[in-house]
Amino acid sequence: KKKLIIDVDTGVDDAMAIMVALANPDVEILGITCCHGNTPLENVLKNTLRVLKVCNRLDIPVYRGCSKPLLARKQHAGDYHGKDGLGDVPDPDAPGLDLLQKKNAVQAMVKLVKDNAGEVILVATAPLTNLAVAVQLDPSLPKKLKALYIMGGNTESRGNTTVCGEFNFVADPEAAYIVLDRYTCPTYMATWEFTCRNSLPWSFCDTWLAESTLKADFMKKISSLSRTKAQSADYQKEITAGTGFNSCDVYALAAAIDDTLITESEEVAVAVELEGTYTRGMMVVDYIQKLKKDHKAIIMKKVDLEKLKQMLTNALK
Ligand code: BDR
Ligand code: CA
Repeated sequence: KKKLIIDVDTGVDDAMAIMVALANPDVEILGITCCHGNTPLENVLKNTLRVLKVCNRLDIPVYRGCSKPLLARKQHAGDYHGKDGLGDVPDPDAPGLDLLQKKNAVQAMVKLVKDNAGEVILVATAPLTNLAVAVQLDPSLPKKLKALYIMGGNTESRGNTTVCGEFNFVADPEAAYIVLDRYTCPTYMATWEFTCRNSLPWSFCDTWLAESTLKADFMKKISSLSRTKAQSADYQKEITAGTGFNSCDVYALAAAIDDTLITESEEVAVAVELEGTYTRGMMVVDYIQKLKKDHKAIIMKKVDLEKLKQMLTNALK
């Protein structure tokens, strides 16, 4: 079985990613570590437990991580994910935070990776604060990882949060910088442009959500607000450049569990801009090898869409 740690800021697409992982019998989730991001940390914790409850998997350990970026000012994505991070459709019977593990997410990450050295695949679908602190705590952590999958960054200076910055990187640029600099394990990246270019047709989403299962009902409810937003003319024109539905975090997770999902990728060294009037948080892609970095990231280019659709379909069964 593949051993995963998923670092989330649950969020609608984080929820989808968690559900895709839970549906795969060949995956063992060692823990879910939570970070600030789409919504304040308290909501992230609650949302993660809600997802696990719908999937009947409250046995999976959930950990409380960083509530703030390292240096940047906190920001959330309530316009898209809802104020509560899951489309503002509250569940009065949501599980309580007493179900959380006592250990902090960063300490848990360090310990789980140490105890399963060489085996853990870390999937990061949130701002990279927890991962940055973890490598400060244990500089040898990246060497002990099997691989790292990140949803974040951009390759062509197309942003979704600032002019040229993607949310997870813009929400904590210093953390993203540290992670791209220090994690020397195989690092796979699902960037913003990649998810836009490989988006799912809206017609698929309609069929996908029309299933009459508890999980499909849940997904339909929590994604309603973000789908309306993503389908709006402005968003299609300006943000996703006219593509379909890009459930960003699912790409990183799905690629981590199925090695054949990505059909084209490119190895390039990357860094993060930390200053700049317009460019703070933008990922810098060193196509001409000016940075002289030994470690290159594996940037996803093309996905097998049929496989991805199948994984999403299985997730709601
Ligand atoms: C990323 O930011 C968040 O809003 C999503 O959950 C995803 O991780 C996309 O830029
Ligand atoms: Ca996310």
